[in-house]
Amino acid sequence: MTMQVPEHVPAHLVFDFDIYKAPQLRHDPHRSVAQMVPKNAPRIFYTPRNGGHWVVAGAVEALEMLRDIERFTSGPVFPGARKPSTLPNQVDPPAHTEYRRIISPAFTPRAVEKLEAYLHELSAGMLDAVYPKGRCEFVEDIARQFPVSVFLRMADAPTDRRQQLLEWTEISVRDADPAAREAANTALGKYVTDLCEQRRGKEGDDLLSMLLLGRFEGRPLNADELLGMGLLLFLGGLDTVAASLSFIMLFLGRNPGHFRQLVDDPSRIPNAVEELMRAHSVASVSRGPTRDMEYMGIRFKKHERIYFLTQIYGLDERKVTDPLTVDFSREISPHLGFGAGPHRCIGSHLARVEIRIFLEEWIKRIPDFVIDAPGDIETRGGTVWSPVALPLAWNVAV
Ligand code: HEM
Repeated sequence: MTMQVPEHVPAHLVFDFDIYKAPQLRHDPHRSVAQMVPKNAPRIFYTPRNGGHWVVAGAVEALEMLRDIERFTSGPVFPGARKPSTLPNQVDPPAHTEYRRIISPAFTPRAVEKLEAYLHELSAGMLDAVYPKGRCEFVEDIARQFPVSVFLRMADAPTDRRQQLLEWTEISVRDADPAAREAANTALGKYVTDLCEQRRGKEGDDLLSMLLLGRFEGRPLNADELLGMGLLLFLGGLDTVAASLSFIMLFLGRNPGHFRQLVDDPSRIPNAVEELMRAHSVASVSRGPTRDMEYMGIRFKKHERIYFLTQIYGLDERKVTDPLTVDFSREISPHLGFGAGPHRCIGSHLARVEIRIFLEEWIKRIPDFVIDAPGDIETRGGTVWSPVALPLAWNVAV
């Protein structure tokens, strides 16, 4: 395959890295990719893969760039992005601020606190169902199911189509066939639109009602905006939570000493969640330069794609001492697993609480478990990194 590098990119900034299929992403990707930078790859480099784009692999650089919305836009500027976008996460302030205000009441600490009892009940129910089997494939049986249930609860929507939603989501996010992805997106969109229409006139305090009652520039959201917001809320918390939970269970399975610390003292779980998410961030983000410019000594051109390898920013030794060591007594360290700047994840508090409560319920039932697979666990790259499958096993008390 011949791979073109644009003329304005100097050879020392070119590094061959496929964000979907690089060999470093197949096993233990956080360690492998963190060790690749800056020894082999510069902190900001250009890869000719996937049509050619920039990769920002350093936390210090990323933090500055993600906050600089004047130079780096979330808009769908680069080739291949959906145009025109109806997703509010692909709109810059000030419009973005108005959209975000509509949904932010659903994610405040007080709103999330109201969900806590449900999250305990959900985790307990899922774990009670698998416990007697003494084993599970964690990614499929638990991690992917959990956040869909949370969304349906927040939207006050029926749970009968949960499996169908999971299937569409899986195709929409991962199928290699663009036509299949498009069909799944359309089906998901129709599902969200239908739900909104059924709710119209019967609004309550759920997430969909918030969208229906919300105002943008003084008017109700139009059909495209409702669809965009609904899909963003549905998809934003699915793969990300599932992947985070899976990496966390993978780490705890591989490191029984760390897991034992949590079993012996569950009050350490909140700190542990933060530390585990620092070391196993899952989601990346993209931006585009608003104009041709020189920035940090690099020449960016308008319409180029910049991919932020957010997954490894918590492992940048300029920000965190001894970053590859997971230490639950570490002072909370900064990481960019939830992004930075105005688009920083609106669901970050909810995500942390979901993971904390899940671990609390797991520990009550399964204080000892192993990874039930020979060799390394396979992982996949892309915009959300994740273990592909994670077989776990435990002894069932009789
Ligand atoms: C561990 C779990 C999660 C991770 C790692 C994560 C990660 C992220 C990241 C990195 C962004 C920034 C995107 C950007 O800058 O372009 C983001 C934005 C967003 N996330 Fe999350 N997320 C998680 C959970 C959730 C949950 C549970 C929800 C809601 C149900 C959610 C909803 C959103 C929304 C709506 C945005 C767009 C915010 C905006 O553009 O202002 N996320 N998330």
